[in-house]
Amino acid sequence: MTTILMVCLGNICRSPLAEGILKSKLPKDNYFVDSAGTGNYHIGAFPDKRSIAIAKKNNIDITDQRARQFSVSDFDNFDYVYVMDSSNYRNVIQLARNNEDISKVKLILNELGNISNLDVPDPYYGGELGFENVFQLLNQACDRIATKLIL
Ligand code: 4NP
Repeated sequence: MTTILMVCLGNICRSPLAEGILKSKLPKDNYFVDSAGTGNYHIGAFPDKRSIAIAKKNNIDITDQRARQFSVSDFDNFDYVYVMDSSNYRNVIQLARNNEDISKVKLILNELGNISNLDVPDPYYGGELGFENVFQLLNQACDRIATKLIL
């Protein structure tokens, strides 16, 4: 089983979308995809209704997800940890115990391979267009990730 964890701040906007999108591109029997937030504000919460809506518009159901906080044990349980922005990166790296932990953590948009170290913008305080943009960015990145994993 290959295991992939998507991480943002709240685990209600970006990483639930990333989880749902990547799951939709990978066979379930060989790949486990999950998501978590570095913050603790929304533990147990449903994804943001705007994330649920943009996912649904693209035939992806993320309503079974509940927010949880990233923990050190995730370094043991996951092969790949994709973070949405540089602040998530710093927060996750702070918890790393060794170089192996550090090497698992990647900025998700670096998978696009054109411009380095771009953030998936936090759409929480914006409008619907922010979520559309986030969906498109994550969809492209997850296409690359799925292709790389499956090949
Ligand atoms: P996310 O968005 O990290 O993509 O889930 C956010 C959700 C909530 C907050 C910030 C970002 N918040 O400050 O409550």
